Amino acid sequence: MLAAAQSDFQGATHMVPFEEDTISYNQTPSTGPIARFQSRLDRGEVKLKFDPQTGWRDSLLAALEISPKSQTLVFSKTSLQRERIAPQNPRALFFNDEIYVGWIPGAPVMEFTEVDAKLGGVFYTLEQTATDKPKFVRNNQCLECHASAKTMGVPGHLIRSFKTDDQGIIDLITGVSEVNHRTPLEDRWGGWYVTGAHGRVTHRGNLYGKAAFQKAEEKPNFLGNLASLKKLVDLTDYASPHSDIVALMVLEHEAHMHNFLTRLHYEAQMALSRYQHIRYLRSMADGFLKYLLFTEETPLKAKVKGTSGYSDYFPTLGPKDAKGRSLRQFDLETRLFKYPCSYLIYSESFDLLPKLMREHVLQRLHDILTGKDTSPEFASIPAETRQAILEILRETKPNLPAYWRVEKRAGP
Ligand code: HEC
Repeated sequence: MLAAAQSDFQGATHMVPFEEDTISYNQTPSTGPIARFQSRLDRGEVKLKFDPQTGWRDSLLAALEISPKSQTLVFSKTSLQRERIAPQNPRALFFNDEIYVGWIPGAPVMEFTEVDAKLGGVFYTLEQTATDKPKFVRNNQCLECHASAKTMGVPGHLIRSFKTDDQGIIDLITGVSEVNHRTPLEDRWGGWYVTGAHGRVTHRGNLYGKAAFQKAEEKPNFLGNLASLKKLVDLTDYASPHSDIVALMVLEHEAHMHNFLTRLHYEAQMALSRYQHIRYLRSMADGFLKYLLFTEETPLKAKVKGTSGYSDYFPTLGPKDAKGRSLRQFDLETRLFKYPCSYLIYSESFDLLPKLMREHVLQRLHDILTGKDTSPEFASIPAETRQAILEILRETKPNLPAYWRVEKRAGP
């Protein structure tokens, strides 16, 4: 059985009218990281190098500060360039906190999703041809798939898990169309390659074609924990031979978090223009806090270990508090992160939430972390975890409201 439909709040899958006036998605120019990068390219402040074999990929990843260690490989035919993707020619995805990149060997374009703090997901392609003036072209065709019930009704990110045949064509009745940190590992990674250790826990990665799935039913985990994909696919031209299990888990947390931030943004903007307040959005904001604090994260039943070095790299991005603690530190034994509060709390998308919404979320977060809030939704977070997250945020998150500061004890 697959996990029941996940719900963040009532109506979470409804389409938001983002093409209408308040958001005006199509009419509004992006000021996100790709748009800003294009301006730097145009002004000649950065130069990209074109490689005859791999195109702009490596030069671009370096310029955008996206680690090749973040590489994951998806072979299900799901893309505007679907005919190019197959188990023998998977699509490589790379990501950082605000950009997702898709690269397929031999494909005419690279694909990009950026996170614009106000617009949410914005989509681009870049032609894989040598030129002095590389141009990212905004492409709204992508919304056909990237704005639906599966992206919380806003332009956003998709991560799915479906069984595929040996060509990578998905079997629509067998899947989870919205994978995030709540999805049990057993249901993840249909249509994806996975490298890394996960003990005896099963998943659907590295399998395609009827025979393979049949075999997996008789002998769960028959492929074992794969440290290398050598026996399955030739990855000579790829940036790395990995589809790192830890990078996959972070990607899955992040994609849904970005969709949620966009949804919160849009809803707050619409509510403010209609009612000048956000009081009707309280349960949505609590849903957001639940996701931010990983309250319904699927527990890990075995130790998880990656292969690409991503799990060593990611924590170095910080920020750290005086005790060396960071929201990016991994646990990987019982859960993903040691201090379960999303690092995207440091993102521009969070900071640029409409003021009333940001203030409300920070007030609720403070109530939860200080133990003032006793609602059952957050009861599962141990007191010492709340305290640690509170301390880390106090030290590392700039511009918190004054009441977040440590109160001086009165007394002699
Ligand atoms: C036919 C449906 C479809 C279309 C059209 C499509 N995508 Fe996607 N895309 C997907 C799916 C599905 C995934 C998730 C991968 C998976 O789980 O199979 C995805 C994932 C991605 C990702 C990685 C994670 C994310 O969601 O940000 C990027 C980047 C991306 N697509 C970019 C694009 C761009 C750019 C376009 C338009 C040029 C586009 N896609 C058009 C279906 C589509």
